[in-house]
Amino acid sequence: MKKLIAVLILAVMPVLSFAADHGFELDKVDIDLADKAALQDGARTFVNYCMGCHGAKFQRYERVADDLGVPHELMLEKMVFTGAKIGDHMNSAMRPDDAKAWFGAAPPDLTLVARVRGNDWLYTYLRTFYEDTSRPLGSNNKVFPNVGMPNVLVGLQGNQVIGCKQVQSVVDGKRQFDPLTGSPLTHEACDQLTIEPNSGTLTPEQFDEKIKNLVTFLAYSANPVKLESQRIGTYVLLYLAFFFVFAYLLKREYWKDVH
Ligand code: HEC
Repeated sequence: MKKLIAVLILAVMPVLSFAADHGFELDKVDIDLADKAALQDGARTFVNYCMGCHGAKFQRYERVADDLGVPHELMLEKMVFTGAKIGDHMNSAMRPDDAKAWFGAAPPDLTLVARVRGNDWLYTYLRTFYEDTSRPLGSNNKVFPNVGMPNVLVGLQGNQVIGCKQVQSVVDGKRQFDPLTGSPLTHEACDQLTIEPNSGTLTPEQFDEKIKNLVTFLAYSANPVKLESQRIGTYVLLYLAFFFVFAYLLKREYWKDVH
């Protein structure tokens, strides 16, 4: 019996540790699903840097092209590398079995990942890969420790290393300042990420923007009808506002003689 209980506890342990999270504070990202330029840039990054391993198999190229305002020929020319046709699902070229053998874990389909993980999680995850020579692929991640995914964006972001540096002290979410001089109060914190200057092709701001666009695309992919419902919602509200004027005029007409 004792053995059984021990086995059960061990069995649910990964789930518990997952739920407890690692306490790493997520960066917030404010995305705009109506921003077509951001969506197109995100889609480009996705097909270029992610689809070698991940698919978005519940999504079709054609639907994405139409939703994002990309002509079909352009979509086929610039964003389809697997020989797929415009009506095909966005499958990855990699076979799951191969992937499992190479990375120890199969890269999951990403169509719905924004719903599962949330935008802030994705935004932070994709920006917090860092050099870790003790790992088989030479890198690790802040929000997904010991992740099986290699740091595929290192060429854009540059080499990020972990170490100690001076950071501003924060108590209860408030930045601390010296009451006399007004200068920020700092302390040394280890576990801090720093990008080695000029080691990537993008500046940190450009890279954050790139990732924000990629997350915008993933958020759209997880809920493509959201764009549509927002548009319809606007028409409904406009219609109601318009209708209200006539209803009001009619009411005034009816009540004119009663008063
Ligand atoms: C070389 C292959 C490869 C490439 C390219 C790649 N990934 Fe991954 N990715 C993986 C593997 C393998 C995992 C599974 C890691 C694990 O479970 O330890 C993973 C996991 C993930 C996860 C976590 C999913 C979850 O919920 O557990 C996300 C999100 C993700 N990748 C996003 C991306 C994005 C976005 C890109 C493009 C910028 C990308 N990946 C490119 C191999 C890759």
